[in-house]
Amino acid sequence: MKNASSHKQPGVRDSFGSSFGVLVALAGSAVGLGNLWRFPYLVGQNGGAAFILIYLVFVCLLGLPILLSEFIIGRRSQASARAAYKTLAPGGSWGFAGILAIVCCTLILSFYSVVGGWGIDYLFKAVRFDFTRESGAPLDTMFSTFSTSTWRPLICHTIFLALTAGIVISGVKNGIEKFSKVMMPVLFLIILGIAIRSLTLPGGGAGVDYLFKPDWSKVTTDTFLAALGQAFFSLSLGSGMVITYGSYVKKDANILSLGAQTALADTVFALIAGCAIMPAVFAFGISPGEGPGLVFITLPHIFGQLPLGGVIAIFFFVALLLAALTSSISVMEVIVAFVIEEFKMKRRTAVIVVTLSIWALGCLCSLSLGAVDGLKLFGKTIFDLFDFVSANVLMLIGGLIVVLFVGWKLGKKDVHDELTNGGKLPIPEWFIDLLLFLLRFVAPAAILIIMIFQLLK
Ligand code: TRP
Repeated sequence: MKNASSHKQPGVRDSFGSSFGVLVALAGSAVGLGNLWRFPYLVGQNGGAAFILIYLVFVCLLGLPILLSEFIIGRRSQASARAAYKTLAPGGSWGFAGILAIVCCTLILSFYSVVGGWGIDYLFKAVRFDFTRESGAPLDTMFSTFSTSTWRPLICHTIFLALTAGIVISGVKNGIEKFSKVMMPVLFLIILGIAIRSLTLPGGGAGVDYLFKPDWSKVTTDTFLAALGQAFFSLSLGSGMVITYGSYVKKDANILSLGAQTALADTVFALIAGCAIMPAVFAFGISPGEGPGLVFITLPHIFGQLPLGGVIAIFFFVALLLAALTSSISVMEVIVAFVIEEFKMKRRTAVIVVTLSIWALGCLCSLSLGAVDGLKLFGKTIFDLFDFVSANVLMLIGGLIVVLFVGWKLGKKDVHDELTNGGKLPIPEWFIDLLLFLLRFVAPAAILIIMIFQLLK
């Protein structure tokens, strides 16, 4: 490793500098396109408040326990995703779970970087005031023409991935932690400001009702599937991210409190993003169920009509880009840490190899949306396939393995040791028993039921 921190202490593994640094890096990974793009449109498609309540229950009963389990695996082993399992369970075949995690992150980063690139293009459009200009193209055609074209999305994907690589190459403390420390507060202020603007629009009250007054008649099994998938995606679970970041956390940090704060921060961000988007959607009489185009078609339409909308659009797409970057660096770090440890590569070389591979896969994703015919597998575009296989299959399997590993293979002593730092932190016995019960029975059952329902569909 050639970055500054390891120059000072050769041979020492990179780590986060402070517990605030860990928190912002974890929250940075969790808060991303999942909060600003995926959550609002899923809320819109699944009927509002009832979906949000189900989502919150999943975050508490499944999300937090899985987050803590990954934390335990990472910090106990001080190793990257695959080596972590091999360290804690030598000789077993658990290392396979690490490989699944790497594959999962590879797929995620490939399409995530394409969407991040769309964010860059839309930021350019916002800066040129394209959304507020009278003569501009209709926004739905603007989006479909852009996302199905060849060069512009590829160039933007390249820029986004280069930015991600630029941060990851500087290491954990000097790259990831530093960037997140500055950008997360900025992101929070921007989203909060937009939410206040949106909540004070005349007619915005209907959006607030939609977010907070549940209508249970709209709930189906699909609502539960979507809510669980979103809890996994938004908390970056089942993909080795928390294992990898956890391995950079010092032995005296309180991982229970870090985990709880991460889940809380992610949820608060999602709810504020909902408050930024839904009241405006209702104030302008637009249907909330637009789907994935919500952020790239519906919102620009709103910016076009809102007083000072052109400026708000710039802030919004800056926020989207920052949120996407603090997440994409975490996905890349999972793969880079694996390559460094498994192939004994220098960080710089590892980042270059990983970036080039993801770049090629991302190009396929982008081109499959329309520019090149026939880039399809199993009837889906490569883009949709990567999204589906990672978020709906691999992350769930990864989560299942994590809970089985911590609940049954490691067991109470290791969980107790990690949560209390070897008896130093006062964590009540009943809490650890409750956590183990959730990990051994509730979480595996819930994940299996959801996977079976998905297969049957
Ligand atoms: N949680 C991020 C979001 O909400 C996405 C993300 C970051 C992620 N790292 C991940 C998803 C690792 C899966 C795995 O946008």
